[in-house]
Amino acid sequence: MSKGEKTPGERRQLPVQQDKPWGGRFDAVLDDKAEAFLASLPFDRRLAQEDIEGSTAHCRMLMQRGIISAQEGELILNGLAEIGAEIETGTFPFDLSLEDIHMNVERRLIQKIGPSGGKLHTGRSRNDQVALDLHLYVRKEITKVDGLLADVQAVLLELAKKYFGVIIPGYTHLQRAQPVLFSHHLLAYFWMLQRDRERFLDAYKRADLMPLGAGALSGSSFPLDREMVARELRFGAIYENSMDAVSDRDFVVEFLGCAAILAMHLSRFSEELVLWSSQEFAFVELADAFTTGSSMMPQKKNPDVPELVRGKTGRIYGNLVAVLTMLKGLPLTYNKDMQEDKEPLFDTCDTIRQILEIYPPLLATMQLNENKLQQMLRHDFSTVTELADYLAAKGVPFREAHAVVGRLVRYALNEGKHPVELTRSELEAFHPLLDNELMSQILNPRHAVASHRSRGGTAPQAVKAQLSRARQIMRRHTRRAQRLFKCGTF
Ligand code: ARG
Repeated sequence: MSKGEKTPGERRQLPVQQDKPWGGRFDAVLDDKAEAFLASLPFDRRLAQEDIEGSTAHCRMLMQRGIISAQEGELILNGLAEIGAEIETGTFPFDLSLEDIHMNVERRLIQKIGPSGGKLHTGRSRNDQVALDLHLYVRKEITKVDGLLADVQAVLLELAKKYFGVIIPGYTHLQRAQPVLFSHHLLAYFWMLQRDRERFLDAYKRADLMPLGAGALSGSSFPLDREMVARELRFGAIYENSMDAVSDRDFVVEFLGCAAILAMHLSRFSEELVLWSSQEFAFVELADAFTTGSSMMPQKKNPDVPELVRGKTGRIYGNLVAVLTMLKGLPLTYNKDMQEDKEPLFDTCDTIRQILEIYPPLLATMQLNENKLQQMLRHDFSTVTELADYLAAKGVPFREAHAVVGRLVRYALNEGKHPVELTRSELEAFHPLLDNELMSQILNPRHAVASHRSRGGTAPQAVKAQLSRARQIMRRHTRRAQRLFKCGTF
């Protein structure tokens, strides 16, 4: 070989794509449009802290196992801490051409500490790295959502206490059905949100699995200590299969699924708030701070917040379906498609968080229109089931009692009267057991509500018991969540 000529090895060290961590194999540069298309940095930069957390644990393990020296390890750990600070203070030089947050952090580390920075990726692939970051992120999000849900529940309990005794019409088919305590109605949402919290807690267990050590797909030839990494990061368990570890996004789907059910609950509640604050219902008035006016009609006070909560539910469902669909045709193991897990996840996290932060003050400042509610119930027919129940309790077969009261209702409607206004002889024509005194007692909404004493019913006694169970369950949940969130079993 003549002087000045390069050996094949040297030639390989002069990659055209020298800006890329993987540039060695390539002769031509990546097309600009392809580069922009492939980059996840614009959205995965939000995984920066998780990436550093994960890399820190990985580095400690490499040191512990003697895979890198203590000295190199310390350099890397200090470099990572500095990078963490740069990201926090907004001075980190993000570079889109490095595709994602993982390669940005690594490149910065090498810039800071030199070639030793290149040892951090020993025994690791971006495939298990990105999975780890996502696990850390979803775990953190679940703890946040759990706390925010507790805030909404707390306001529901406060309102249930504040308005204890106020009766509202209860509906089926959006037709007045039977009167209920307003507190009872609110507590229905308490229990929905409680189930949501439990669902998220359950999903936490699958987010609490540690994938690192899977490498690209098949594990590693380095003597890694995966349990140590799991301990460092407080994971409850590790993936038993390296291929599963890098392919699994169930935990993302589960999170999005829990969020979709939660959004459905909040959307139903929102729909009720929209109805309740209409002039037709006028049960409640939302505070000025949470309503908006019309640019044209000066009288308007629009319930925009609950409307938009209802509207945002669509995108939260969409995010779930997007990730499910993205995954459904993927062969094992990692495929670039999986980069599409992040935007739906982040969007759902942001949306849910926004909604859950706005709900407590919106509910706490809402005014209940008690006078209007009292008037509304005075002349409605929503207590006549009590009459049928009364006859049934006296031994009349319920089916027959139902028919008697049905005829009585039809008669009263035709006469333009309320059943309590019927005369004794009018009543007796329907059934000998009926009289005026009985009517005004039994048809009184307060009496109707008070008589529904079955467990879980709307009678004040039953609702009081329900309230105290709700408080107890919240306390128990908090203890359970704290145990789960704080300590992995490793
Ligand atoms: N940016 C990628 C993602 O978010 C990181 C993992 C890429 N791994 C790979 N071999 N291309 O999914």
